[in-house]
Amino acid sequence: LRWGVLGTGFIATEFIKDLGLLPGGESIVVAVGSRKQDSADAIGDRFGIAARYGSCEGLVADPNVDVVYVATPHPMHHATALLAIRAGKHVLIEKPFTLNAAEARDLVREAETAGTFLMEAMWSRFLPHMVEIQDILATGRLGKIVSVIADHGQWFAEDPKFRLFAPELGGGALLDLGIYVVSFASMVLGPPNKIRAASEPAFTGVDATTSVILQHAGGGQAVLNTTLSAESSNRAVIVGTEARLEIDSVFYRPNSYSVIDRDGEVQRHEHNEPGFGLRFQTQEVALRIAEGARESAAMPLSETIQIMETMDEVRQQIGLRYPSERDPLRP
Ligand SMILES: NC(=O)c1ccc[n+]([C@@H]2O[C@H](COP(=O)([O-])OP(=O)(O)OC[C@H]3O[C@@H](n4cnc5c(N)ncnc54)[C@H](OP(=O)(O)O)[C@@H]3O)[C@@H](O)[C@H]2O)c1
Repeated sequence: LRWGVLGTGFIATEFIKDLGLLPGGESIVVAVGSRKQDSADAIGDRFGIAARYGSCEGLVADPNVDVVYVATPHPMHHATALLAIRAGKHVLIEKPFTLNAAEARDLVREAETAGTFLMEAMWSRFLPHMVEIQDILATGRLGKIVSVIADHGQWFAEDPKFRLFAPELGGGALLDLGIYVVSFASMVLGPPNKIRAASEPAFTGVDATTSVILQHAGGGQAVLNTTLSAESSNRAVIVGTEARLEIDSVFYRPNSYSVIDRDGEVQRHEHNEPGFGLRFQTQEVALRIAEGARESAAMPLSETIQIMETMDEVRQQIGLRYPSERDPLRP
């Protein structure tokens, strides 16, 4: 599969590096795109990528690109992905998929019309330990799921220009870090039917620390916390009536986990995959595109929209709107 990467920042760089760990030529980056030719040239030189574009429009028009990876800040995901879809490209969009559910629904409609593949880059779901955990859940080995307890916290130096603090760049803990715990809860328990949230703002007005309780129809609950003010445990636990499953810190990166039976017996599942782990999702993209599918059953678009709806509701409750959104949320 021939990839075009839009954006030249942190995650675009990690993505290109991680794809390099795949068996020879399975997925290769053939083009990079930036707002500036200099940046495109710099990343092209660094990784030996021949096609460099000083505009998104240039990259999406490249006939050698099969699939576009959108690695711009969240408020730009919708516009960037739209260009790619309308150019007939398959698209993988960094998390969060968009700024809100309305934008997500719009992209899904556009991809349906274009007949192209579309997926949220919730890369953690495709990591080997997460795939195993989904298999364990499917067997019912943990019994009835009572709760999911997960946190994602990182410390960032306060800087109003830094993406995570800047409202105009979709800053805040929830959309950037909290998406991992919301998506994890969704993977285990499905959509919530009740949402309760509380939040502490950062100095720029975006959310610094947000806690969410989700109630699910089957009786399961999720207790989730996210912060950009501290390094938290970054653990996730699935508590079932028969056993609980504890993922080592950092739970959303390649990692090991334990299944602990009700009587205390521990089964350890060790993993030590190298690299960041972004490449596993690209194998899913390649397989689905090869079979002519328009989405992935492992990260379906309906679930991506539901996750954005959950985060819209949390933001509604904590009073967080972004500059590009009209009141109440963009239709
Ligand atoms: N999967 C993960 O583990 C992970 C980790 C971090 C971030 N992310 C996600 O990836 C996306 C990008 O995050 P990042 O950390 O890579 O951000 P970043 O380092 O700030 O890079 C974002 C890139 O987007 C491009 N861009 C386009 N329009 C922009 C604008 N108006 N302002 C700033 N940059 C703009 C820039 O590239 P040019 O200057 O070349 O145009 C910039 O380098 C976010 O949605 C984030 O949630 C995912």
